[in-house]
Amino acid sequence: MKTLVLCNQKGGVGKSAVATLLAHHLAHRGQRVLAIDLDHQGNFTKPLRLSGRAAPAAFGADALMTGTAPALPAQPFVLVPGDRALLGLERQPTQHTPFARNFRSFLAAVNGAFDVCVIDTNPNPDIRVIAALASADFVLSPIQLNQEAMDGVSGLLNHERVGLRKIKAVLNSKLVLIGLLPTLVEPTPFQKANFLQVVQQYHPLMIRIGDGPGDFASMPRRSCIAEAQAEGAVLWEMKKTAARDAWREIEPSLQRIGDIVMAPAKSPTTAAEANHAAAA
Ligand SMILES: Nc1ncnc2c1ncn2[C@@H]1O[C@H](COP(=O)(O)OP(=O)(O)O)[C@@H](O)[C@H]1O
Ligand SMILES: [Mg+2]
Repeated sequence: MKTLVLCNQKGGVGKSAVATLLAHHLAHRGQRVLAIDLDHQGNFTKPLRLSGRAAPAAFGADALMTGTAPALPAQPFVLVPGDRALLGLERQPTQHTPFARNFRSFLAAVNGAFDVCVIDTNPNPDIRVIAALASADFVLSPIQLNQEAMDGVSGLLNHERVGLRKIKAVLNSKLVLIGLLPTLVEPTPFQKANFLQVVQQYHPLMIRIGDGPGDFASMPRRSCIAEAQAEGAVLWEMKKTAARDAWREIEPSLQRIGDIVMAPAKSPTTAAEANHAAAA
């Protein structure tokens, strides 16, 4: 089982929407998918529940940390929902190490039952995010192309507690940063300029989807994506032409991310190597 974490300390950048689209996409590709929502706001839980595609576990994701989780449903697409009990974990600092250990043991125990685990996280840099990153194979960071969010990219990499460089150096050397995924992209001159700036500044962290100069994974802002999240619809199955058009725009990016995650392990260590491994 490959484990992918969606992570960014900013809220509202599209983490849960990307997690949802990826979970459906991977299930559609025939992968056995375990979806875990570590955010008490439940924005990964709601659309998956409403979709009726994922069998929900009878317990919340906090049980994966406290080590009290009963068995999961024996289904090819399972959701461990987020709930408010997740908020209590950070307030038990003496338990943080056991929480991270329990979470890792849980993932190891279900390793044979799923092909891929998609974990959505909360924006606060707390034990949930640390436990997820400490056990994951891959991390993907949706970012928004506004100045504030772009300034946050350096925090994403260098934050003293949950910075990806720190996690990789101290807790999880196998963690691969797939890269930055610009989301909610709008065709304004401002955003186009910011896209260029991100590409220039963080070139190795962008996810290539083609050979052209601007061929990097991204996700446009489309109202049907928000609707799909609210209604639990699967984007490419929605009746509207706008939804099918939106899916056509984002499919290459999701496909690429799926390819990177599902590529046979040859322990790539950098985003560039991960990209290369998926292309091979
Ligand atoms: N590509 C998109 N186009 C339009 N709306 C989007 C898109 N991605 C996310 N949204 C909407 O924006 C809001 C924030 O997205 P969400 O995925 O919940 O962000 P996060 O998980 O980072 O807090 C939600 O209402 C969601 O439905
Ligand atoms: Mg979210």
